[in-house]
Amino acid sequence: MGHAETKLQDVPNTRAISMDEYWMPFTPNRDFKHEPKMVVRAEGMYLWNERGERLIDASSGLFCVNAGHCRKEIADAVGAQLRELDLIAPFTRGHPKQFELATRVAAMTPGDLNRIFFTNSGSEAVDTAMKVALAYWQAKGQGGRTMFISRERAYHGVNFGGISLAGIANNRRRFGPTLPGVAHMRHTHVKENFFQPGEGAHGVELAEDLVRFINLYGAENIAACFVEPIAGSTGCLVPPAGYLKRLREICDAHSILLVFDEVITGFGRTGQNFAAQSFGVTPDLMTMAKGITNGAQPMGAVAISERIHNAIFNSAPEGGIEFFHGYTYSGHPAACAAGLATLDIYQREGLFERGRALSPYFLDGLFSLRDVPVVADVRGYGLFGAVDVQTEGTPGKRGHAFQKKLFDNGLHLKATGDSAIVAPPLIAERAHVDSIIEILRRTLKSI
Ligand SMILES: Cc1ncc(COP(=O)(O)O)c(C=O)c1O
Repeated sequence: MGHAETKLQDVPNTRAISMDEYWMPFTPNRDFKHEPKMVVRAEGMYLWNERGERLIDASSGLFCVNAGHCRKEIADAVGAQLRELDLIAPFTRGHPKQFELATRVAAMTPGDLNRIFFTNSGSEAVDTAMKVALAYWQAKGQGGRTMFISRERAYHGVNFGGISLAGIANNRRRFGPTLPGVAHMRHTHVKENFFQPGEGAHGVELAEDLVRFINLYGAENIAACFVEPIAGSTGCLVPPAGYLKRLREICDAHSILLVFDEVITGFGRTGQNFAAQSFGVTPDLMTMAKGITNGAQPMGAVAISERIHNAIFNSAPEGGIEFFHGYTYSGHPAACAAGLATLDIYQREGLFERGRALSPYFLDGLFSLRDVPVVADVRGYGLFGAVDVQTEGTPGKRGHAFQKKLFDNGLHLKATGDSAIVAPPLIAERAHVDSIIEILRRTLKSI
């Protein structure tokens, strides 16, 4: 490859920056470097490119900035924290904000998911949850329970635990055999539910795949079943009505732990604190990230039921480490400060209620796109939805071109394959929804 560079035009003294050294994640790097899409500033619902042109952010960055971009309260809290205490050794040393944030998060979770383990990302939260599940069964004297059940089209991050659970083929197929002992249920994107807002009427029987695996492998060998309540990164697959409840019943009947990966669906995306509450199903473990700090600091967490936590603690020798796991930046002071400031904003501004109130208008707008001929399906729940475009040639080719064209037309969103995923910040107003739908419509008609 030859050398590539781009000119940043809005900074005083226009400067060239080399495009060669930075290897971008989940990006067609060669394509990007020919045609860079740079963002240099953000505020509220908007981003600005280096030419000073404004874009509306229709996917909250990457499903993170639920309170909108560049919130001063969060920036101030992080700055103040870094001046007061920048870092502590997180093993055997604590600082008050870790405990305060854990208490605040626990108050938002359903049931007895009241023990909080901090990580730095959703991927780490997923791997941590897998280890908690395994440690729990060891503590219970059922160490044979090592298998995990996941689902086709699942996204659980990119660490080896997460890609072993993954059901998006491209995210696993280049990386060897991954972890043994993972079986995948079928995904829930069934034709009968196409163009249905909310939970589809069809497909509850897909939960019975879990029973088939129990019959095949034996419940005594299965540690946990991992699902995203709404499969997010694959393109917002809302579960069929009753599906999550049925998974809960099957897990209960066979003492299998149920884990909800709420990295996207947490913190108001579905109109409640977590999708668990929206769907009325309480898991045993829950992973989260992104919205916990409004994306302003890297942070993830696992909420763990007291029952699981107590079993692990009680099995450890008195005075000894209960769980041999953790990260240098677990509960980083700046991330905790960002988390506390973020939760204050969510509460003070009633953002989850606000998102819930806007949802019908948002979904009406999104589903109005069904009449554009290139649209293959529309799905949505809360302030979360997806528009699939008809595949043309290689799967994902048209989706990628669509996403690039949207950016040129003033709209940022995340696309996976041929699905465009729409998840505006919860501060959005009707006028923002109108702009998002107008740009989507205009762009859909042009691809
Ligand atoms: C459901 C789910 N789990 C895990 C992750 C991984 O999170 P991260 O990118 O912070 O590692 C994501 C990211 O989008 C996600 O959507």
